[in-house]
Amino acid sequence: MPCQTSEELAELVSIAREVTKDGKIADYIPALGEADQGDLSVAIYHVENTCMSAGDIEKSFTLQSISKVLTLALVLMDHGESYVFDKVGMEPTGDPFNSIVKLETHENQRPLNPMINAGALAVTNMIKGSDKEEKLSRFLAFTKELTFNQDIKVCHEIASSEFENAWLNRSLCYFMKKDGIIDGDVEDLIDLYSKQCAVQMHSLDLAKIGAVFALDGKHPQTEKQIIPKDIARICKTFMVTCGMYNASGEFAIKVGIPAKSGVSGGIMGIVPYHFGIGIFGPSLDKKGNSIAGIKLLHLLSEKYELSIF
Ligand code: DON
Repeated sequence: MPCQTSEELAELVSIAREVTKDGKIADYIPALGEADQGDLSVAIYHVENTCMSAGDIEKSFTLQSISKVLTLALVLMDHGESYVFDKVGMEPTGDPFNSIVKLETHENQRPLNPMINAGALAVTNMIKGSDKEEKLSRFLAFTKELTFNQDIKVCHEIASSEFENAWLNRSLCYFMKKDGIIDGDVEDLIDLYSKQCAVQMHSLDLAKIGAVFALDGKHPQTEKQIIPKDIARICKTFMVTCGMYNASGEFAIKVGIPAKSGVSGGIMGIVPYHFGIGIFGPSLDKKGNSIAGIKLLHLLSEKYELSIF
């Protein structure tokens, strides 16, 4: 179903677009550096199956860290809470997303939460499957079901670019392997994680995933319960406490909705029982979140009183 264009939304996008010049495109994964700094798009998918969009909605982007919410839901469905949270904690860190420091200094060596890279790598390691190919194909099938879009695929250029440069993620994995948090081959895990991060979509697809979470795991189009309600609740709670990394506290106060960002500039937002929001704006602030995406969410939250608090 095509999205309606909305003048009201377009006006907010043009205000938010102004701050794209104050940010920077991530280039530690070289292929991400090819994005256009001034791009900004938003789609809002209502749980009653209507949608609105504005900005550069024809542009696709990769999920990056937003994929961590989906892998968390998948492994909780695969293994249940106690298995997963035996290996990964539930607390925010206040550190950057790729920090290694707490793995050594925290008294229990588990990564503190599943949204930082260490925790997300441990979660990806738990996806059920006989090999990395089966694990990836289960993750892709889940993403296709959530977006109701069979065309979703991995961008192999971005996946290879991450794989070739993932030295810090490799270090996190070897550290966790030493402590028995992860098992198996680290290169296979980095390959799978790089591909999960490189799953490519449009703002509308991301907004639809948000709408599934807004409906406690039920797909608005098929009405199928894709994610059990309790697991959807856990994922949304992590999005509030850790979804915007070490900017999560300020974001909760200023915007006040569950949200998850990625270094490609994507943000998925959830307004419970109303709609999912998909944003793409590759210019990032110092903490690795889309600078114009945050501005846009701030404007939307103020205008429509979206805060859940
Ligand atoms: O682990 C990485 O470096 C990336 N593939 C994902 C990180 C990310 O998106 C952090 N988000 N703001």
